[in-house]
Amino acid sequence: MITFGNYSVEGNSLCLQGRKLSDMAREYGTPLYVYDEDYIRDNARRFKNSFERGKNIVTYAGKAFLTLEICRIMAQEGLSLDVVSSGELYTAWKAGFPMERVLFHGNNKTREEIELGVELGIGRFVADNFRELRLIDEISRSRGKVTSVILRITPGIDAHTHDYIKTGMIDSKFGFSIVDKEYIKAAKYAQELENVDLKGIHCHIGSQIFDLDPFYDAGGVMLGLYKEIMDETGAQLEELDMGGGFGCYYIDGDNPLEIEEYVETILKSASENAARLGIKEPRLIIEPGRSMVNNSCVTLYSVGAIKEIPGVKKYVAVDGGMADNIRPALYQAQYDAVLVDRVEDDRVETVAIAGKSCESGDILINEIKMPLIEEDEILAVLYTGAYGYSMASNYNLIRKPAVIFVSKNDVKVAVRRQTYEDMLKEQL
Ligand code: LLP
Repeated sequence: MITFGNYSVEGNSLCLQGRKLSDMAREYGTPLYVYDEDYIRDNARRFKNSFERGKNIVTYAGKAFLTLEICRIMAQEGLSLDVVSSGELYTAWKAGFPMERVLFHGNNKTREEIELGVELGIGRFVADNFRELRLIDEISRSRGKVTSVILRITPGIDAHTHDYIKTGMIDSKFGFSIVDKEYIKAAKYAQELENVDLKGIHCHIGSQIFDLDPFYDAGGVMLGLYKEIMDETGAQLEELDMGGGFGCYYIDGDNPLEIEEYVETILKSASENAARLGIKEPRLIIEPGRSMVNNSCVTLYSVGAIKEIPGVKKYVAVDGGMADNIRPALYQAQYDAVLVDRVEDDRVETVAIAGKSCESGDILINEIKMPLIEEDEILAVLYTGAYGYSMASNYNLIRKPAVIFVSKNDVKVAVRRQTYEDMLKEQL
């Protein structure tokens, strides 16, 4: 197996910071999300050091994985935070995250969400549509404030990724379109609003992107729009937000680039295109989500029933599944797995790793070569740090697992396992 950060194989056991994962499973129960805190901090520093250069901003996209603890970590590392709902905003606020470093995204922010953002004094809204611009202005005026806004534009870049996660295309529910120059209308409108301070523009071209070209090209397109908006509306823009989308390793054959390579491409595109267009380089913003957290985490499960259909398939069922990781069922996402105490045993048979939800589609891994698995062994599905816990549900009223953060010096429970009472709390 390929290991990242502070994971290692010692003896035949998967370890994190020298501690056996099987011991963690025993102590905290399964399923269990185990995060390598030092590796997340290391990624945050790599993004910050390579990108910020005294003026640019790294904004962690909290939708990938947001808890109070991750907010504290990002705050300590000096990053900004992208939230997409009042729930994420409230979590950040509760964690003491500096509100001026919060950027509020989303294609349909409600009045209540905009009120909360304005009242808490967040740094920026990314406005997705005319209604939001109107509401941000109205709500800011009623509170005697002026709110900084960036316009989200869909620049029509095809990032060659999975259909569901392609967000920069022309046909998109997000942002102002380039069709009929909607973005010019939006910028003119924002300019007229007294309680909106139009700072810049934004795009996000997709997720899990392994190439550099789409980022370079999007930089060119966006800087062209940036100049056009300034020329045609008189707006004094200062910021260009290039979103997230940097790819991560999941399975053999994935070839993600280093953080620095993605970052360099965005910086290079901005400086070359600004020079070409004869404009001052904007302050750049990026919003990495997946690449910040994905490879820091594995999910531990206990093996339960093993069912063999002779000549057809062998199903190895675990005590979690689509409720804690919807990605295989939703996107046909692929993962690797190991038995945590028999990592290097020969992989002798092909099995399916099945979840426990009442749904045939709840298969975590459809086909994987594994050693002969026995009941009650601990199995780790690898690299589940992004969009696993954040997309977890209580389907079948399965309790959400605990989340632990392991660092060199300690193991912290960031989220305790849900109780039955937790699940029934809202019910009357
Ligand atoms: N910024 C914006 C505006 C976004 O829409 C997203 C992700 C990001 C940043 C972060 O992108 P990342 O660096 O994580 O690729 N649930 C899907 C992914 C959805 C991504 C949505 N937007 C999945 O599990 O693959």
